Amino acid sequence: MHKNHGPVYYGDYLELNKLLDTQNPLSKKYGDEAHDETLFIVVHQVYELWFKQILHELNSIKSIFSVDKVEESFLSTVCSRLERIKKVQTLLLGQLEVMETMTPMDFLEFRDLLVPASGFQSVQFREIEILLGLSTNQRKEVDREYFLGRLNEQDKERLLKIEKEPTLFSALEKWLERMPFTFNAEFDFWSEYQSCVEDMLCGDELTVLDNMATLPPKALEIQKANLQSTRDTFETLFNSDEYNKLVKEGKRRLSQKATLNALFVLLYRDEPILTLPYTVLAHLMDIDENFTTWRYKHALMAHRMLGTKIGTGGSSGHQYLKGAADNNRSFIDLFNLSTFIIPRSQRPVLPEKLKTAMNFNYRD
Ligand code: HEM
Repeated sequence: MHKNHGPVYYGDYLELNKLLDTQNPLSKKYGDEAHDETLFIVVHQVYELWFKQILHELNSIKSIFSVDKVEESFLSTVCSRLERIKKVQTLLLGQLEVMETMTPMDFLEFRDLLVPASGFQSVQFREIEILLGLSTNQRKEVDREYFLGRLNEQDKERLLKIEKEPTLFSALEKWLERMPFTFNAEFDFWSEYQSCVEDMLCGDELTVLDNMATLPPKALEIQKANLQSTRDTFETLFNSDEYNKLVKEGKRRLSQKATLNALFVLLYRDEPILTLPYTVLAHLMDIDENFTTWRYKHALMAHRMLGTKIGTGGSSGHQYLKGAADNNRSFIDLFNLSTFIIPRSQRPVLPEKLKTAMNFNYRD
């Protein structure tokens, strides 16, 4: 209990005088006030407040993962904070509908006054992206230029500094890399798993040949090429040189070791010790998916408001935003792991000793 604190007044505690004195339409300053500019300001400010909360959660999760040994008991805290971020994201998506009650014509009443300010300059949005592992190098060239080129020196320095520090993404990657279970003197999980996948791929090939023999030759060829491409992708998973080449080319984000261990978690998530790690990974995929949904919805909103006009920040507007939605995926590697999931019944059987080690054993 905190002792000896004085009486608190609602408005003072929340510093409402300050907060509610920051909605100042530019249209009012320069002439007739455009009615919808207040909505535009409030919606952006509320977004920035929620970004602040998301950063608060992400940074706390980063601290939990930034130690050499993450205690199992902390993982439920991590899961509830990730869950909270997901709930906030639901609000963020809903707010676009409020924004869309403004029509393109009403927007034009004050839009010109905003140039060259734009969402490009939302430093907190960039911080979230960086913490989730999206560094300058991983951005598309055009995105990279906008990312830094529209910021003032102070904001640019701040982001470049954060980029040099470990991110939540890198801390999670190290946590995954440290995961035990897949190799010891008696058991090499990956060699057993590879032969299971080989069986599955051969089965798939037979199915294609049996059931699709009646397809026109061209269609059959495409099916076979798709199977071969799955096989090739699968092989890169186990070939360090090939895998690291893909990382360098920006086609993979997580290290090979982290990816393999994440796959193990997805395959054996029923084992008690992997339940929480699995939930962490599932939440991260949800968060990635929710941000991507927001990006597409925001791109559509920009299209609706601007048509094919350029943005106030100078990009191609809707086209640019759609490209960023496609490219800026933090945990895309986790999504791609589904390529390598095999049916429960075909998974390698784990040795009894390992299964016991992965269980919670209670004694009276
Ligand atoms: C009338 C409503 C809006 C329109 C027409 C609009 C349009 C745009 C456009 C065209 C861009 C590309 C940059 C540029 O050339 O200016 C952009 C970027 C951005 N906007 Fe909006 N926006 C709107 C509302 C919002 C709201 C409410 C937020 C919430 C914070 C937001 C956040 C962002 C962010 C973070 C970016 C950078 C995205 C990236 O680079 O991936 N925008 N917006």
